[in-house]
Amino acid sequence: MLQGKRILLVIAGGIAAYRSLELIRALREQRAAVRCVMTHGAQQFVTPMAAAALSGDRVFTELFSLTDEAEMGHIRLSREADLVVVAPATADLMAKMAAGLADDLASTVLLATDKPVMACPAMNTMMWNHPATQRNVARLKADGVAMLGPDAGDLACGEVGRGRMSQPAAIVAAIAAFLDASTDKPLAGRHALVTSGPTHEPIDPVRFIANRSSGKQGHAIAAACARLGARVTLVSGPVNLPDPAGVEIVKVETAREMLAACEAALPADVAICAAAVADWRVASEAATKLKKDGGALPTLSFAENPDILATLAARNDRRPRLVIGFAAETGDVVTYARAKLARKGCDWIVANDVSTGTGTFGGDDNTVFLVGPEGVEDWPRMSKQEVADTLARRIAGHLAA
Ligand code: PMT
Repeated sequence: MLQGKRILLVIAGGIAAYRSLELIRALREQRAAVRCVMTHGAQQFVTPMAAAALSGDRVFTELFSLTDEAEMGHIRLSREADLVVVAPATADLMAKMAAGLADDLASTVLLATDKPVMACPAMNTMMWNHPATQRNVARLKADGVAMLGPDAGDLACGEVGRGRMSQPAAIVAAIAAFLDASTDKPLAGRHALVTSGPTHEPIDPVRFIANRSSGKQGHAIAAACARLGARVTLVSGPVNLPDPAGVEIVKVETAREMLAACEAALPADVAICAAAVADWRVASEAATKLKKDGGALPTLSFAENPDILATLAARNDRRPRLVIGFAAETGDVVTYARAKLARKGCDWIVANDVSTGTGTFGGDDNTVFLVGPEGVEDWPRMSKQEVADTLARRIAGHLAA
């Protein structure tokens, strides 16, 4: 995937530096050439020896090193790469980058480079949320630095929140997508709207109705469309997945929020509704937790949720040129998918069997039928990523026709 690509990896001083070692290995597995620059802080967490052993190259640490400067000056170091990746990008290093400081090798290389830069922030969540950091991030984005992450979750400091460095696999995928940006972009100039994941419909402040969707299929479609050059808005229900690279993500909980986010994202050239939207919500959400008082069991009454797919397909103004739904069925997949195509007014349906044992919900593979006006295609079993790539290519072909 990254054969022959040269990555200059700047490792800054945070606990996530140990994950940079995994990143080096993952990049090398993709046949990229990796050269590392480490700050003094980074060396408190991992050794240059480890980075050198994994990258198969020497590691650069000092700005004022006669030997290093004689053999490979910092200017050359900053230029001999296809992409400069800062991982982890600490609050401190990003502040230096935003201010244009150059008081060590890492910051000097970042100021001197004429190559694109991608930063993968990692820090305590309060540091990330601090207005100073957010100002610096906005500045860096405006300067053209690509940002990936940080993810939310348990942090090394014991707190929980946004601040974890993106997974090495996600960084590798983002690097591949970034470097691929100049070639084969049949969806360039198109806007793709993708829904993904389940919705959560509250019963009371602590309980909700949900389903087994993991978001893997929808997120893979969003990433595939982005790889082909589309601007992608991914409207996602609650999932436990990293944000796909190069995609604008809008996180929602309920079906009604999902519809509002989709409508706000229009106009779009294509809408792909892969989310497993709850058909019903509880008619009146309790304001306080329902109590188990030993008496009668609570009775829930339901109201119908808006149908996002049908609403997008029925719009008179700003209807996406191609509206694609999914059909999750547990039997007679194609028959029900055909009925759904007609009932919801969409152009194509991707139908999949979600019976227990198929592994469609939450699994990595899928077996789908593509149902359209011209007939039904039976696709072989594939990974969800391959389904996404195949679908994205078909969308590109359709929009180009
Ligand atoms: O998330 P994964 O674990 O990877 O699993 C993938 C998947 C099984 C969730 C996915 O491949 C899939 O089938 N998504 C659609 C699930 C679904 O809700 O199917 P449905 O047959 O109930 O709905 C038909 C279509 O209407 C879907 O496009 C759905 O997004 C849409 N819909 C449904 C109800 C509603 N209120 N609004 C909608 O837009």
